[in-house]
Amino acid sequence: MAAEMRAGIDRREKEGMDTGSARYTLRVMEQAPVIVFVFNPYRVPSQPADSTGQNFMNIVDIQSIGAAIQNMLLAAEELGLGSLWGCDVFYACEELSAWLGECSEMIAAISFGYPDEYPIARKRKTFDEVVQWVG
Ligand SMILES: Cc1cc2nc3c(=O)[nH]c(=O)nc-3n(C[C@H](O)[C@H](O)[C@H](O)COP(=O)(O)O)c2cc1C
Repeated sequence: MAAEMRAGIDRREKEGMDTGSARYTLRVMEQAPVIVFVFNPYRVPSQPADSTGQNFMNIVDIQSIGAAIQNMLLAAEELGLGSLWGCDVFYACEELSAWLGECSEMIAAISFGYPDEYPIARKRKTFDEVVQWVG
């Protein structure tokens, strides 16, 4: 798995792409005892939505998957596990999908393990900064 992730990042960088936090994510994935790869079984990679209805359904599906991931992270937290929700796997989605033998659209990979660091919570925007009342 790590070899595939590294190969994907290398390939993107050779193409001139900025891969941001991908190598950090790779380091976390290498240390994680469990990684859950999440796919959307209703779509294949880079599939264009060919109707408005399909586009709506795709948005609904992505929201549902996001909620399922959030539930996994909350359950892990309750069990004392750490997690990293990772979309940097997109840089290596071809390599990882081939390694997993999965043809549907990759959404994320969540790394789980016992944490060895407890970062200070980052500053949050206030309620008033993120909520707009109308009417
Ligand atoms: C959809 C999504 C994808 C993310 N992908 C990555 C990733 O690939 N690598 C990474 O280090 N962090 C990733 N993050 C984590 C964020 O960078 C951030 O650390 C996390 O949301 C916790 O935020 P907080 O520190 O503000 O609580 C992702 C977060 C979200 C919501």
